[in-house]
Amino acid sequence: MTDRYAVVGNPVEHSRSPAIHAMFAAQTGQDLTYERLLAPLDGFEATLRRFAAAGARGCNVTVPFKFDAFALATSRSARAERAGAANALRFDADGWVADNTDGAGLVNDIQRNAGRPLAGLQLLLVGAGGAAAGVLGSLIAAGPARITVVNRTLDKALALVAGHADLGVPLAAATLADAPAAQDVVVNATSTSLAGAASPVGAQVLKPGALALDMMYGPKAQGFLDWAAAHGGEPRDGLGMLVEQAAEAFFFWRGVRPDTAPVLAALRASS
Ligand code: ATR
Repeated sequence: MTDRYAVVGNPVEHSRSPAIHAMFAAQTGQDLTYERLLAPLDGFEATLRRFAAAGARGCNVTVPFKFDAFALATSRSARAERAGAANALRFDADGWVADNTDGAGLVNDIQRNAGRPLAGLQLLLVGAGGAAAGVLGSLIAAGPARITVVNRTLDKALALVAGHADLGVPLAAATLADAPAAQDVVVNATSTSLAGAASPVGAQVLKPGALALDMMYGPKAQGFLDWAAAHGGEPRDGLGMLVEQAAEAFFFWRGVRPDTAPVLAALRASS
């Protein structure tokens, strides 16, 4: 029987996840469909329950429902617990299991696709909202020398760092204006790129050749990517992270690990 999955969000019409999972399914011979499901802002739970009752096996969850997905689950992976949010649910017979694959997706993209092992590096995470919270635990697990979290609202950076202080990597929190100089890797996890802004931090943060990754992709990321290139950084958008987090979700649902390289190449060719 064909198993059903979906990405649930609002908005969801521009999601590239259906194309990615269709390629994964074809590549691995898994019998599944993957659709887009628009949930009303006040109707996430009802939408999910209808989908599960119709026989669906799981879903991805995107903006603005990742916290609701976490709350609705009956059990949660350790990395979802750390993030306080879920981007993937599996509808098991005995309950809904929540996972968060965003952090692993980001780290796999940086280390494997961009070829930058994070061990020993100086990392700057810009932003302290949901997107940043979803990835900090996985960045720490990769063993960098230090991670600084900078945010417009300092209190949120301090709280995010405090929630991860037990993981054995030195962490610091600062305002955007106090961002440290000469970082090896800079990750933009703010929503400033939504407004087309170039960068929330000054160019001193970039060590020559630093990887400067925006978690967005498409036109929304362009301002940050242009800024990075203009200041000697190596720009990278969030498309690789998108494919890698999808591969982690596919493994969570199916127990099979797809090959991400041809899928990322196909997406790049079509964008
Ligand atoms: P998301 O789920 O995308 O992370 P969020 O939780 O609302 O969304 O977080 C948005 C992030 O972008 C926050 O770090 C926010 O900073 P504040 O915590 O100070 O609000 C950051 N952000 C949004 N607009 C910004 C702007 N114009 N300048 C700087 N940072 C901004």
